[in-house]
Amino acid sequence: MLKFENVSKVYEDGFKAVDSISFEIPKGELLVLIGPSGSGKSTTMKMINRMEPHTGGKISINGKDNNSYVASELRRGIGYVIQQIGLFPHYTIEKNISIVPKLNGWAPDKIKARVYELLEMVGLDPTVYATRYPKELSGGQQQRVGIARALASDPEIILMDEPFSALDPITREQLQGELISLQKKLNKTIVFVTHDMDEALKMGDRIAIMKDGKLLQLDTPEKLLHEPAHGFVEEFIGKHRIIQNPELMPVLDIMSDSVVTTHPQSSPEKAISLIRQRKITDLIIVDESKALQGIVSAYDVIKRVNTIRTIEEIMQPVRRFFLHDTASAKDAIIMMDESPFGLIPIVDETNKVVGLVTRGSLLSALSSQWTEPVAIAI
Ligand SMILES: Nc1ncnc2c1ncn2[C@@H]1O[C@H](COP(=O)(O)OP(=O)(O)OP(=O)(O)O)[C@@H](O)[C@H]1O
Ligand SMILES: [Mg+2]
Repeated sequence: MLKFENVSKVYEDGFKAVDSISFEIPKGELLVLIGPSGSGKSTTMKMINRMEPHTGGKISINGKDNNSYVASELRRGIGYVIQQIGLFPHYTIEKNISIVPKLNGWAPDKIKARVYELLEMVGLDPTVYATRYPKELSGGQQQRVGIARALASDPEIILMDEPFSALDPITREQLQGELISLQKKLNKTIVFVTHDMDEALKMGDRIAIMKDGKLLQLDTPEKLLHEPAHGFVEEFIGKHRIIQNPELMPVLDIMSDSVVTTHPQSSPEKAISLIRQRKITDLIIVDESKALQGIVSAYDVIKRVNTIRTIEEIMQPVRRFFLHDTASAKDAIIMMDESPFGLIPIVDETNKVVGLVTRGSLLSALSSQWTEPVAIAI
């Protein structure tokens, strides 16, 4: 879809703002560009629609060199949203959104229908807002119009340069969520620049980290967190990142895979000897194929040892208090809070027990990421 091959940018004054970067963005992906101020993010963006021509390498869009497009056509086919929005103050909202469709020669009826559809899509009632002027809208509402305008001619590619950075945190969260769901629905290819790692982790299918005009790492959020390729990346991501984003940490990374299990037909004596030997407080009960059946607490076994024949009689059903091995640490934190058991069995797709998260393993996994006490935001 969009391909950079050893692309560089040397500005007229001789400054090398982008230094031989290569990457590819498949259709429908949201790629986040992140990095410190001056690292070349906006320049990278502007080279895509040729607002700044690149001075080395090759940029292709759908296999075609972007230099071989007529500049105005290229820009019309690529939506562009910037922080300052750039709405025309003397145009109504409707007229602002209509600019590109009009340039594309759409009929007035089609344009109007499109404007109404887009306003609805970004959560603004067209009967209220179409006829207003930008200054009669809040910052967040103006930003929504900016997004609607970028989508107006149904471009395949949308460039967003810190589109939400001027917004208050609540509006920002809301628009992030809306953009994610729009993106899922419309399957656009989006390049999104931000300074904010939390925003990057939330929005990006993949994240590209830039520094001094170079691309340090381009990976999925999970990969960046777990395998930062560069000391700077690690530092940039921040030491608290995992605890701030437990949804990105697989439960597989925090579970213990040495689970003490037994069968429902076990005698209470056998259960007690297991409990003593392995110093555990609960036994996970499985059938012959290791599929999860229930939980028996050490307390119950010891109390009932003389009145039961098999531990099946005191086994408690796990009900919904287990997780699949595809779950995240965040799922485990939430479930631990709700579960009547102090542990969470982890099962694979065949319901076979593959591990166990206990309060202790959860805490120690999380606290090893801590350098100071941090509240867990979930
Ligand atoms: N027209 C220009 N002429 C010369 N140098 C420029 C020009 N535009 C940008 N630069 C320089 O190129 C480098 C990269 O700029 P760019 O705007 O791409 O950074 P950025 O990563 O978007 O930064 P920020 O996060 O502050 O927006 C900076 O050092 C900047 O000073
Ligand atoms: Mg910039």
